[in-house]
Amino acid sequence: MRDETRLIRAGGSPQKSGKQLAKTVGPPIQKGSTVLLPDAAALYDDAHQVTYGRQGLAAHDALREALAELEGAKGVTLYPSGVSALAGALLAVLGAGDEILVTDAVYKPMRRFCDQMLSRFGVKVSYYDPRITPEALVGEASDKVRLILMESPGSLSFEMQDVAAVARLAKGRKILTAIDNTWGAGLIYRPLAHGVDLSIQALTKYVGGHSDLFMGSAAASDPKLVRALTDGVIHMGWSVSPEDAYQMLRGLRTLPVRMARHHESGLAVARWLAEQPEVTQVLHPALPGAPDHALWKRDYSGACGLFAFVLTPGPNTAVDAFLDALALFGLGFSWGGFESLAINCDPQLKARKLARDYGGPLIRLHIGLEDAGDLIADLRQALDVYAAKL
Ligand SMILES: Cc1ncc(COP(=O)(O)O)c(C=O)c1O
Repeated sequence: MRDETRLIRAGGSPQKSGKQLAKTVGPPIQKGSTVLLPDAAALYDDAHQVTYGRQGLAAHDALREALAELEGAKGVTLYPSGVSALAGALLAVLGAGDEILVTDAVYKPMRRFCDQMLSRFGVKVSYYDPRITPEALVGEASDKVRLILMESPGSLSFEMQDVAAVARLAKGRKILTAIDNTWGAGLIYRPLAHGVDLSIQALTKYVGGHSDLFMGSAAASDPKLVRALTDGVIHMGWSVSPEDAYQMLRGLRTLPVRMARHHESGLAVARWLAEQPEVTQVLHPALPGAPDHALWKRDYSGACGLFAFVLTPGPNTAVDAFLDALALFGLGFSWGGFESLAINCDPQLKARKLARDYGGPLIRLHIGLEDAGDLIADLRQALDVYAAKL
C-alpha cells in the first residue's frame, strides 16, 4: 500500500483493532461525520438508526436520554443554542397562515425571530400582556391561532402565568402550548407535567452552569410532536458537537446541588434588598409578598438565582454609577452560571408593545454561587454610590 492509503488506515478504530472501549462514568466523546456500517445490507437497513454523525452519537444519546428523564418527556431534541431551540420548535409545528400568541415579556431575540422571520413565512404574531387571565388569553384567540408561546417568569420583569390553566384551555381549542422554561431549567418546574406541549430551554444557562457552552433543548410527550421536532432538526441540518454534549451532561449531573444554592442565596439577597431604602420593589416570584408569589408556590419546587428589583427614581448616570461600583457582580447579559451578574433592564424594555412603568430603574441580578453575605455587602456599597448621585 502507498502512504496515502496507509495513512488513511493507520491507528484504526477500536472496533477494527478488536480493543474494547474502557468504561468511564461519562459517555465516550465520539467524533464523526462518517458512521461506518457493518456490511452492504446495513447501508439501507432502517434498523440501523444512526447512519450519519449529524444524527448524534454516544454523548448526544446520553444527553438526550438524561434530559428526557429530567423533563418527563418521550423525546428531546438538541439545538446549537437556546434561541435556535425556540426557533426550531416553532418552525417544526407552524405553517403559513397560522397565527401565534406570544407573551410580551418574551426574551428579546425571540421577538426579533417572530417579527422578522416568522412573519416573512406567513405566520401572524400577536403579543399578549403576561398578566392577562388564561380565560381571556385563550377565549379571545382567533380560530387561526395554532400556538401560544409562554415564558414564565417573563424575561426581565418576572411575571408568572397560570401555565397549567393556559395549557388546559388551549387543549380544548386544539391550540398548542410552548414555554421557554429556562428559569425553571426542567428541574424546579416541569412544564410537560402541567399539560404544556413543548418545553423548551436554553441549556446554556443552568444546565451548562459554567457560562462556557451554548445549547438548547425542546421536549415533548406526544410522539407526534417528538417526530415533528426531530424532523425539524433533520430538515434544518442542526447538530451540536460531541464535546459540548458531553460537557452539558456533566453540568446536568450537578444541576440540583447548584440550583439549591442559587435558590437560597437569591432569596437571601432578595429579602435584604426589599428592606433597603433605595429599593422600591423586588420582582422575585419566590419572595413572599412579591407579585405572583402564590403561583410560584403552587407550581414550583424552588427558584433559580435570577430576579429583578426597582430602584428609587434616579438619572441614568446614577444607575451606571451603581453598576460600575459593583465589585463582585460582572456586567453581562447572561445568567445560570456560577458567577453573579447585573444589568440595567430599561433599554431592553423599550422593545415591548405593552410598556409598564415600574416607577424607577429596573435592575436584573443573577445570584451566583458566591457567599450571599459578600454579595449583599457589595450591593450595599454600590447602593451608597447610587444614593450619593441622586
Ligand atoms: C429566557 C431566555 N431564553 C433563551 C435564551 C437564549 O439562550 P442562548 O443564548 O443559548 O441562545 C436566553 C438567553 O439569555 C434567555 O434569557
